[in-house]
Amino acid sequence: MQKINIFDTTLRDGEQSAGVNLNAIEKLEIAKQLERLGVDIMEAGFPASSQGDFLAVQSIARSIRNSSITGLARANKRDIDIAWDALKDSEEPRIHIFLATSPIHMTYKLRKTPDEVLESAVEAVKYAKQRFSHVQWSAEDASRSDKWFLVKIISEVIQAGATVINLPDTVGYSTPKEYGELFSFIRENVPSIDKVILSAHCHDDLGMATANSLAAIENGVRQIEGTINGIGERAGNAALEEIAVALHIRQDYYQAKTGLKLDEIKHTSQLISKLTGMVVPGNKAVVGANAFAHESGIHQDGVLKEASTYEIITPELIGVASNNLVLGKHSGRHAFKQKALELGFELTPEKLKDAFDSFKALTDRKKEVTEDDLFAILTDKQTEQ
Ligand code: KIV
Ligand code: ZN
Repeated sequence: MQKINIFDTTLRDGEQSAGVNLNAIEKLEIAKQLERLGVDIMEAGFPASSQGDFLAVQSIARSIRNSSITGLARANKRDIDIAWDALKDSEEPRIHIFLATSPIHMTYKLRKTPDEVLESAVEAVKYAKQRFSHVQWSAEDASRSDKWFLVKIISEVIQAGATVINLPDTVGYSTPKEYGELFSFIRENVPSIDKVILSAHCHDDLGMATANSLAAIENGVRQIEGTINGIGERAGNAALEEIAVALHIRQDYYQAKTGLKLDEIKHTSQLISKLTGMVVPGNKAVVGANAFAHESGIHQDGVLKEASTYEIITPELIGVASNNLVLGKHSGRHAFKQKALELGFELTPEKLKDAFDSFKALTDRKKEVTEDDLFAILTDKQTEQ
């Protein structure tokens, strides 16, 4: 079984979500929970971006012992020096240097020729290598870059000392097939590629970040980057909880696993939602409030007989106590009886039938039938002569 390293960037790319601003205390609280979750690498921030971020990264680097801490830097000496100051006290300091390689970014954003980009990348990696033994280099907008230019620049940054090569789908443009093929192409054409770990970093603009990350794993990637709840720039990053649970549930297919403690997922998701103020949609895979809720009678009946009829993930796997049979207009007698028993009502079959009819009539008038409504209906029937 192949081990996949999890690189969590909730505190850096995740914090780049519009409207999110975490202070140093909140960042440290999240970092401690990410450590409990078991992430291998944590990108704590972008030290050169502000004094506040520098201090937050420094405090995380000094407190966290069981995950490797990294910080983002542009390909220049100032960013690298500041990152070193913030990270030097960590257990295993790492730096993450990025530089765009796509024609669009090089022409309009960087205003540099490909040769100039190549030179800056090599110079930055060599400079960082004087201090950091772990140097990750990212080809920003890799999925829209010329593949032969990638081959050239990757070969040279590896020679300069890079230990991890990340090929981000920065704007969420790739399809799973294309993204997987990009890694295959690089593996086939960069002779020194086996000296480094290949990493995937996906954004969700077209809703394909999880699928793209999994395609990357199928094509030799050993590090996956993402955030909890998929928060991040624009439509967000790949949701790490989805990837980790997909690998676990479909071990038969992927033959790969992460080192995450999956039963810490729900708690981590809730903490991050609370501190960032970003609400998790009810139907979000794995961590949404409805992920283990069953409403229709047919599904409820199936789940009461054998949970695996409609649940491929057990709630306990991610740290949720139990599934939830929601009583609504599609619910059936079995779930209703079960709920009545949970509420302490043992009615005769006739009274139970009457109560069920009243409940069904109520579901046509009310969107949400609450426990109080059920209690009222059941008490009414129980006391009826
Ligand atoms: O999406 C991206 O390209 C990034 C880089 C900084 C790695 O976040
Ligand atoms: Zn990103």
